[in-house]
Amino acid sequence: MNSLWHDLPKPFFILAPMEAVTDVVFRHVVKHAAAPDLFFTEFTNATGWAAAGDKAIGTRLVKTDDEHPIVAQLWGAEPEAMTKLALHCKELGYDGIDINMGCPDASAVKSGGGAGMIRTPELASAMIAAAKASGLPVSVKTRLGYSTPSEWQEWLGHLFRQDIANLTIHLRTKKEMSKVDAHFELIDDIKQLRDEIAPGTLLTINGDIRDRQHGEELIAKHGVDGVMVGRGIFHNPFAFETKPNTHTKEDLLELLNLQLDLHDEYEKLAPRKFDPLKRFFKIYVREFDGAAELRDKLMHAKSTDEVRALIDA
Ligand SMILES: Cc1cc2nc3c(=O)[nH]c(=O)nc-3n(C[C@H](O)[C@H](O)[C@H](O)COP(=O)(O)O)c2cc1C
Repeated sequence: MNSLWHDLPKPFFILAPMEAVTDVVFRHVVKHAAAPDLFFTEFTNATGWAAAGDKAIGTRLVKTDDEHPIVAQLWGAEPEAMTKLALHCKELGYDGIDINMGCPDASAVKSGGGAGMIRTPELASAMIAAAKASGLPVSVKTRLGYSTPSEWQEWLGHLFRQDIANLTIHLRTKKEMSKVDAHFELIDDIKQLRDEIAPGTLLTINGDIRDRQHGEELIAKHGVDGVMVGRGIFHNPFAFETKPNTHTKEDLLELLNLQLDLHDEYEKLAPRKFDPLKRFFKIYVREFDGAAELRDKLMHAKSTDEVRALIDA
């Protein structure tokens, strides 16, 4: 097994890739609050990058040199483009490549990428081989199937036969989006399939897992290798701390201030807009007297300095 996945603590905890969320700024904020064992980037389209270069992908692959271990999550349906972008990620200093085979968005699926891969298993194999050509360890993040959960055996069985370093399974189908509860009842069967076909492939579960403690409970019950937490971080930016603490308003506002400072600092690496920052305010400005009122004012701010002034006031 390769060093990235081999060197992770067992069990391990990952911050899920989230588009327009897990960029270089937010990853540093989460690292400061309570670091997971591994970060993924937002998903980045290989075909777009191969055709138009960096301007096609904005700040998605911007990272700092101290970010290790970190995996670049890529998607697409053209193997040649996948190899090219995976090689570029290696040059950028990424430790691994993850291929998104679960995104349910129509634009991804229509082009054959994301969850569209579930319907073209042979192309999925070709995409994995194409990413491996970079020499970086390759993992896959996918869903149980396209339409019904019963597809899991065939689809995941196929992926386990591709000799990948890790499989992250979001325990829902493409059709289920995020509308039903994650199928925790299938974890034991999936693990058994992994043990039979690919004991060397690590198994990470994802979907509705709130934080490290919740993940530890599921690991104790099912014995999987890793847990990936996504939306839990919106409810608790300290979701990865090893011992749950009570956090004060000051702790939360310190994180917001850090996010503002890093936004300004990393703007020097690549231009970034102010408005997308607003979606983060509710993570930090909540559950204290006057939080709703402050949040309302922050939504009208036009710069990081205006936000700082409002927080100070
Ligand atoms: C805002 C947002 C953006 C997302 N972007 C990605 C992405 O770029 N790549 C990916 O594999 N999954 C993406 N996802 C899915 C999450 O990684 C995760 O699989 C899903 O939210 C279920 O896990 P959770 O219940 O812990 O959030 C995204 C989810 C959200 C909410």
